[in-house]
Formats: sequence, structure tokens, C-alpha cells
Amino acid sequence: MQPEIEHLASRFREELAGVADERALEELRIRYLGRKGALAGLFQDLGKAAAAERPAMGKAIHALEQVVAEGLAARKTALSACAEERLPAGFDPSLPGRRPWRGRRHILSAVLEEIIDIFRGMGFSVAEGPEVETDYYNFQALNFPANHPSRDSQDTFYVDDEVLLRTHTSPVQVRYMETHPAPVRIVAPGRVYRNEAVDASHAAEFFQLEGLYVDAGVTIGDLKTTLRQFAREFFGPRAELRFRPHFFPFTEPSAEADVLCFNCGGEGCRICGGTGWIELLGAGMVHPNVFRAVGYDPERVTGFAFGIGIERMAMQRYGIEDIRLFLENDVRFLSQF
Ligand code: PHE
Repeated sequence: MQPEIEHLASRFREELAGVADERALEELRIRYLGRKGALAGLFQDLGKAAAAERPAMGKAIHALEQVVAEGLAARKTALSACAEERLPAGFDPSLPGRRPWRGRRHILSAVLEEIIDIFRGMGFSVAEGPEVETDYYNFQALNFPANHPSRDSQDTFYVDDEVLLRTHTSPVQVRYMETHPAPVRIVAPGRVYRNEAVDASHAAEFFQLEGLYVDAGVTIGDLKTTLRQFAREFFGPRAELRFRPHFFPFTEPSAEADVLCFNCGGEGCRICGGTGWIELLGAGMVHPNVFRAVGYDPERVTGFAFGIGIERMAMQRYGIEDIRLFLENDVRFLSQF
């Protein structure tokens, strides 16, 4: 809009805001849209303007005309609403209110629920256990011998010699089997703690989802099929899993499963550290000593277990590069999900 027309538009808005009743509104209308009103004056100027300026000027005048017409109509609606509701005339019920701050689920809760839903669809139910655990459930019953170096792989926060912050969700396996007869088909989500040096990919507290399936005749084929199905549902139908041999005291054989890097499709990139694969979870067939510890007969049942890192799943899915973001409570980060 040209400067004088723009000026007129802002003056109109000011005057409109000051209108308190229908009579004042009508006066304002006449001053702008009446036969001798401001708009009529502008159209007269238009007739006298140089031919080259006319199209632009005409457009600006029409725009102003629209601003005025719409402003008058909105104010009219507002005023009659005030009259009906017996509100003070200056009150404009058409103005938007202040929006209350709306919360949302934390990204980790959302991802966790999505993962749980996938396993629910495969017949798993949800179990939980305490975050403050005993050495017995976190280690001994899971076939970690006392003073065995395998404990060093999970740097532990100890409360005292017997009590600690659980380093993984696997103790829930033990607690659940102690109190429920086979068959068992559960997932156990929750927070775990490790005495890690914190950096972009290590946190001292994070979430895992444990899985446990025990029945007569469960095989490693069931384990692979279940996890493959899970990966396809979470990452998409073309997700590829690979299993690498690994060691955990409470499973035998044990494996770690990687998913083909979503970013490079296997060629190797920054996100997968050049390997083409991203580590997803630990898994294996439940060790007979674990069954013995909970009073199951390893001659009659077999089972598989797995533990999925939830932050890692979210990081892969959304391209989040720093695990610390999950705990900082920065709404600029959280409100993106
Ligand atoms: N508890 C293991 C960990 O935290 C993961 C795991 C769970 C491995 C179940 C095998 C079976 O590293």
C-alpha cells in the first residue's frame, strides 16, 4: 500500500478500536465509506492520477476498502453480542483469549508406549519392578557370580553392599517368574541407572524395555521372529535386523541385534559410525541357572529374553544426536515432538 493509504488504514483501526456503540460505528462508516467519505476522496484522486500510477493505486484503495468493510462488520457483530449478553460495550468477545499452556507427553513416554503397544499386539502384557533393587535380583539370580568381572560391564550405583540402583530391567524377569508359573509373556519398561561418564551417547539414567517369553518349546527362531516383527513395526516394513554373538550371564546363547542404518541404508555414515548398522538391543535364550533360581524346571521350559534401549530407539527414529536432551527439560526440544 502506498504510504498515505497505509496511514489511513492504521488511523481507521485506531478509530475502530475506540468505537463503543452502534451509533459511533455508523458515524465511522459514513466517514470512511460514505458518499463524501475518505474512500470516495481517494477514488477521486485516482481519476486524476497519472495513467502509469493508476493500477497500483487502484489496487491499494481496494485493499483499504476491504480492511474498512471487514473491520466495521466484525465490530458490529461484537457490539450486538455485547448488547445481547449485557456486557460492557467496550468488551470485544470476538478477541481471541489467552491460550493456556498445553502440556504433552514426553518424547520418551510416547516412544515407550508405542513400543509397548507393538508387543501388546503380539500378546505380551506389562510387568514392573522396583528401581532400587537388591544385589540378588540385579546380579546373583541372573547368574552373575559374586566378584565376577562380568559385573564390571555395568557400573553400579550402590546404596550399600546389598542394595543398589538397578543397572538393567532384567531383575523384573526374576521377580515375575518367582511369582507366576509358566507360560510367561511380558514386557517390563522402566528406568535404569549406571555410573557412566555422561556424554552425548551415555547417560547415568535411561530407559529400557525388558521382554521375556517362557513356555515349553520356545526356540531361538521365536526370538528372531519376534524381534524382526517388532523392528518392522517400529522402523517400517523394510527394516533389517542382524544378530551378532554376544555375552550375557543370564542368557545362553546371547546376541546383540542391530538394525540397518535408517540414514544410509548400510553404506556407512556419521550416524551409524560408518558400520551401516545401529545397535538396538541385547537378547538371548534364558540361561538354565536363571530358571533354577526362580524354581522353574529348565528341562520342561525354555524361553527368550531381550532388553531394548528406549532413548536409542527415539534417537534413531527422530535423528536426535545427544542423549542428554531427554533429561534437560528444555521445552524448545520437547515441544518438537
Ligand atoms: N540386561 C541387558 C543389558 O542391560 C540386556 C539384555 C536383556 C540381554 C535380556 C539379554 C536378555 O545390557
